[in-house]
Amino acid sequence: MPCAATVAAMSDNAPEVAPYGSSQNSDPTLKRVRTRHFARAKQNGIKITGLTSYECLSASIFDEAGIDFLLVGDSAGNTVFGYDTTIPVTVDELIPLTAAVVRSVSRALVIADMPFGSYENGPEHALDTAIRFMKETGCHAVKCEGGVRSSKQIKRIVRAGIPVMGHIGFTPQSEHGLGGHIIQGRGDEGEEQLLADAHAVQDAGAFAVVLEMVPSEIAGKVTAELSIPTISVGAGPNCDGQLLVWTDWAGFTQGRIPRFVKQYADLAGTLREAAQAYKADVESGVYPAPEHEYGA
Ligand code: KIV
Repeated sequence: MPCAATVAAMSDNAPEVAPYGSSQNSDPTLKRVRTRHFARAKQNGIKITGLTSYECLSASIFDEAGIDFLLVGDSAGNTVFGYDTTIPVTVDELIPLTAAVVRSVSRALVIADMPFGSYENGPEHALDTAIRFMKETGCHAVKCEGGVRSSKQIKRIVRAGIPVMGHIGFTPQSEHGLGGHIIQGRGDEGEEQLLADAHAVQDAGAFAVVLEMVPSEIAGKVTAELSIPTISVGAGPNCDGQLLVWTDWAGFTQGRIPRFVKQYADLAGTLREAAQAYKADVESGVYPAPEHEYGA
């Protein structure tokens, strides 16, 4: 019965009730995706689906469509703020975007991405940032890049009761250290490093780990070794779930798109045509028509 096998459908028998009451999700049948559903999805061989999201309109559509988790990624640096990389993005920039996404969903798990410079100084620094995201946005989990090098930070955040998603393989915040957008995990040394990172993140208590730009075969080995789910961003079909930057996935991003992205729409083309048609209508006087006018 593959069509019934979704992360929400396999949640469990426990009804999802708000223990202290809730002004919003008062429907007791409404299922919220939790980190425990990630674990159970892996155990049951059910694939987990994620997209990035940065604002309320797309977030509510993705939530309605049943996307399991929304990552408010620091990819907002490229997709929202117009930076060349994710490196300049700040916590203050991501907080309002994350809060908007949280306000727009009722089912998806919302994960806030900890930007470069917000956790590297040590475990207490990382915890302070994670607490800011939890308190100021209402997000359900945070993500931070790095395996062995970030394991102390992950452990500290998890110990405070905040779920953490790890992120290893290609980590965009260290693109200069890695020497560019380079596939990770290749060769004996690369594989060894990736496995060490994966285990470090799992041992630190992360509930899932993103593998970015890793050969499918190596990602399969990591997935088989770990008990937590692996989420692929260009790491092939052997992972427990998939995640894409929504603007790439929807054909909104212009310019170079990574090889691993499948585009499911042509939003840029649709918007361009709509803008051209609107301009032509304004210039020719077709818009506004009588049905767009108010009477006196
Ligand atoms: O910022 C982001 O969108 C990400 C994903 C691509 C993993 O970190």
